[in-house]
Amino acid sequence: MAEVIWGLATSHVPSIGAAMDNGKTGDEYWKPLFDGYAPAREWMAEHTPDVAIVVYNDHANAVDLDLVPTFGIGTAESYQVADEGWGPRPVPVVQGAPALSEHLVRELVDDSFDIATFHQLDVDHGLTVPLSVYCPEPGDAWPCAVVPVLVNVIQYPQPTAARCYALGQALGRAIRSFPHEAKVAVFGTGGMSHQLAGARAGLINEEFDRMFLQAIETEPEKLAALTREDYIREAGTEGIELIMWLVMRGALSDNIRRVHDTYHVPASNTAAALALFEELGA
Ligand code: DHB
Ligand code: FE
Repeated sequence: MAEVIWGLATSHVPSIGAAMDNGKTGDEYWKPLFDGYAPAREWMAEHTPDVAIVVYNDHANAVDLDLVPTFGIGTAESYQVADEGWGPRPVPVVQGAPALSEHLVRELVDDSFDIATFHQLDVDHGLTVPLSVYCPEPGDAWPCAVVPVLVNVIQYPQPTAARCYALGQALGRAIRSFPHEAKVAVFGTGGMSHQLAGARAGLINEEFDRMFLQAIETEPEKLAALTREDYIREAGTEGIELIMWLVMRGALSDNIRRVHDTYHVPASNTAAALALFEELGA
C-alpha cells in the first residue's frame, strides 16, 4: 500500500526559481532565504519519496481563464515545463505517475469531489519552483514522479479553505488505499502573504503569516474556518494561495512532527516560507 511520508509547505515565487536557475542563491539578497531552506533540504534528501503530489495553482499559463476548474488532477505520463514568457525554466521534464493519478481521481470522485482531469498539462512556476525547493540540482531528471493537483485560487469564487482541507483529508485516504508500494510526499504550495497588484500591492502581514505557520501544524481546523474574504483581507489577493497548504495538511494525520520551518521577507514582493512535517503514522 502507498503511504504518506512527509508534507512540505512552500512558497512558489517565480524569482526563487530564477535565482536557482541563474546561480544567484549566494547573493546578498537571496542567501538568507536559501540558508533557511538548508535543514529541510538535508532531511528530505535522506527521506526520498517515490512520488510527490504537488498541490498548486496554474497562473493562467496552461489553464485558460475562460475555463477554470475548481480542482483538477494531472493524469499524464509526463508534463512539459511551461513557457511563462521568458522561455521554459531549464529544469527537467516532470514525469507523471498515471496509475496513481487515475486511482486518486476515481477515489475522489467516489468521495464526492468532482475533479477535472488534465491529460495534457504544461506545469508553471507553481509546480516547478517547489520541486526545486525540494531538489535544487536535479541533473537530467527529477528524483521522483509527480502528480499535479490543481486548485483555483485566481478566479472568484475560489474554493473555501474548509473544502480544501476536506479535499486533503480525502486525498490522504485515497493515497493510503492505492494498492501498490509507494512512498508519497505531499506538497502544499503558494503564499505567504502577498498582493502583486492594486492599491495594496506589496502587502506583507507578518502577524497573520506567523499565526498561520504555527496553526497549520496544530490547529488546521481554525485555518479551515476562515473565509476567502478573511484570506484576501489578511494575506492579500494572492495570499489566498495559502488555502493550498490546507490540502497538504489534510492529507497528513494528527500524528506529525515539525522537522523545520523558515520565514523570510522579501522574496520578490512577497513573504516566503517553508514548513516541513514528518508523518509519524495515524
Ligand atoms: C509571484 C508570483 C506568484 O505566483 C507567487 O505565488 C508569488 C509571487 C511574483 O510574480 O512575484
Ligand atoms: Fe503564485
